[in-house]
Amino acid sequence: MVITARRAPELAALAKDIRATGSACTDIAADALDPQAAADVVACAVAEYGRIDVALLNAGQGPDMAMDDVSVTDVSRIMALNYIPRQGPYSAAKAAARTLIDAARVELAPKGIRFTSIHPGFVATDRVNADNLPKPFQVSTERAARCVIRALEREPAQAYFPWATTALVRTLSALPASVSSVVLRSLASR
Ligand SMILES: NC(=O)c1ccc[n+]([C@@H]2O[C@H](COP(=O)([O-])OP(=O)(O)OC[C@H]3O[C@@H](n4cnc5c(N)ncnc54)[C@H](OP(=O)(O)O)[C@@H]3O)[C@@H](O)[C@H]2O)c1
Repeated sequence: MVITARRAPELAALAKDIRATGSACTDIAADALDPQAAADVVACAVAEYGRIDVALLNAGQGPDMAMDDVSVTDVSRIMALNYIPRQGPYSAAKAAARTLIDAARVELAPKGIRFTSIHPGFVATDRVNADNLPKPFQVSTERAARCVIRALEREPAQAYFPWATTALVRTLSALPASVSSVVLRSLASR
């Protein structure tokens, strides 16, 4: 077993306790926010034990951060610590942004600041047109602009367009993961 955290003395004491139970344990003091240090922990674990069967990604923090006081640096640090960039980083970043805005909506309402999260499907912008990915229900930039303006006028908490993408996402969310993943794989392979 490998255990890692930043505080070396506490880590060493824990490793001693674990070894006292008869289990092999290697303690490596490292900061998970330092990519090289994190990679070194993985390399040490593989060198020592041959492979990693289970990784418990436990490092995380949820300090008190008021939305009218928090800095970009604070948010970036908390994002980096709690978010593991591997699977679908783009979608994960958007989900995180939505959650942050949901918090801001509640916290800043007493100050009269309002938030609308706008969730478009595929829009035919230059950037999106440049890749070869499938884009079901893609809409024109003009149509997207009209939808955005309508959302800004009506101010819903969440605004989704086009309706076909919204219906698809809601239907997929309601299905068991085993079924929705088959549908998504089929859409992605077109
Ligand atoms: N406690 C809850 O109610 C609760 C609820 C839901 C989810 N969680 C999640 O569960 C996890 C553990 O929570 P906890 O309450 O047990 O937290 P905790 O007591 O603060 O423990 C966090 C552990 O992660 C290590 N750590 C923190 N930052 C690190 C970094 N940058 N690099 C390496 N190690 C780091 C800490 O050791 P060092 O400080 O020595 O580095 C400590 O061992 C977190 O991801 C938290 O978000 C907790």
